[in-house]
Amino acid sequence: MNPAYPIAAVAIDPQRALFKRDPMIYGHFLEHFGRQIYGGVFAPGHPLSDEDGFRTDVIRALKDIDTPVIRWPGGCFVSAYHWKKGVGEERVPAYDKAWRVEDPNTFGTDEYISLCKKIGCAPYICTNAGSGTPEEMSDWVEYCNLPKEGEFARLRKAGGHEEPYSVRYWSVGNENYYPGEIGSKTHDEWGRFVCESAKMMRRVDPGIELSAAAIADIDWNVRLLKEAGPYLKWISIHGYWDPLWQRNEPAGYTECMAKTTDLDRDVRKVRGLLEAFGLEKQIRIAYDEWNLRGWHHPNVDTAPLGSTEFIKAREKSGINSTYSMADAVFTACFLNMLLKNSDIVGMANFAPAVNTRGVIYTYDDGIVLRPTYHVFRMYTKLMGDEVIDSFETGVPVISMADRDGNSIPVALIDMAATRRTEDGTIALSLVNKHPDQELTVKIKMPAGYAPEKVMTLSGSSPDDYNDVDRNSVVPYENPEALSEDGQELTVTLPAHSVNIVCLGKA
Ligand code: AHR
Repeated sequence: MNPAYPIAAVAIDPQRALFKRDPMIYGHFLEHFGRQIYGGVFAPGHPLSDEDGFRTDVIRALKDIDTPVIRWPGGCFVSAYHWKKGVGEERVPAYDKAWRVEDPNTFGTDEYISLCKKIGCAPYICTNAGSGTPEEMSDWVEYCNLPKEGEFARLRKAGGHEEPYSVRYWSVGNENYYPGEIGSKTHDEWGRFVCESAKMMRRVDPGIELSAAAIADIDWNVRLLKEAGPYLKWISIHGYWDPLWQRNEPAGYTECMAKTTDLDRDVRKVRGLLEAFGLEKQIRIAYDEWNLRGWHHPNVDTAPLGSTEFIKAREKSGINSTYSMADAVFTACFLNMLLKNSDIVGMANFAPAVNTRGVIYTYDDGIVLRPTYHVFRMYTKLMGDEVIDSFETGVPVISMADRDGNSIPVALIDMAATRRTEDGTIALSLVNKHPDQELTVKIKMPAGYAPEKVMTLSGSSPDDYNDVDRNSVVPYENPEALSEDGQELTVTLPAHSVNIVCLGKA
């Protein structure tokens, strides 16, 4: 035990199941940006690709974290994307005005659906509410979901895809509130635009579940919910905490921990508004882009014609040493927040899944599973489907400096408690944020339970990471972390670690 820090006490009540989490909180996102699609999941002719051109090692890794849903094709990219150029025999390369590169359009809707089928995840299509129209969006629903009627279902069938794709999840737009987004809208325009788009899309398939781009902003959301609320099942928000778009200077470990103190801020705001409108039973939150680290794409709207430097700069997102235990600990804290709010948050999508800042990095001979990948695998494999009541007392708090040098009080332990419906086992996530001190937690054992195992992810230092030539951040079973004393379980949490304590029936 570490005498320098008080022992925290954790109480859990397996009988008080608060709600079931939707597995889609462990979702992912892929955008036509950098090597997420081309050179990421899709690499026709590559020795590791299958007959359809998909990287089999990437597919296997995404299956192995039970990926439930993948949002596609953007992101900013979608706000000038015209889906019809990405289907049919003749694919016409298009200039991507969002990211100022040519998109070959060889990966389009059919390839995306094929990818989702290979992974076993649900498709979630984000439509172009920038330069696009309600008609173009509803034509896309026709192409995907109509059995045979009309031009676009016939186009799908002519491409050899007889059966409809039955895409259930759709979003109107991406960040159209943001002035820099192509086709951005004012809050006066947005509600009407979503309403008309939703009306047309649901005229094709009333069974689709629609989301719309939103932000934790009263004016934007009040108009959206007033005008389009009746058509929505979801409302989308995004979050990135280390803004690296212009300067690729990743925040260090303690600065990242200072960012973990208010992760549910936007969920609270949107929840409050949904409740004020009485829509909290109809509409859930889709946190459909989130990551500690923002993507790096400097000067995207100012670099002169013909310049390639600003495009090459994006490759800095591929530096694997960026993704350390800071990313793993932050990701675990965010997943804990999602679990504890999963009565209103039904979907979340790590942005992105592959390359850029993703959980997986591809190179010619294989893939790197970054620390965040292992966090997802620990949660999807070990955490239960029911969120149970829990609370912690005596959690030590220390100050850590944020980027501006402000001293931020940081509670050093973050947790979430779950129960598995099928067998009643309990899984507790216990995260130790301290950069170099182990911490002790005492858990009052619920009657009839006994400790089964502790899985730990800690690396060798707060800055440890995985790369092509190193794989030192991997989860391990950690029996030494446990000691029992009658009805009390003492758990020792290594510094900078993500731990999942599993309790089984005695
Ligand atoms: O930096 C990437 C961008 O982040 C995504 O394209 C957009 O949706 C978000 O602002």
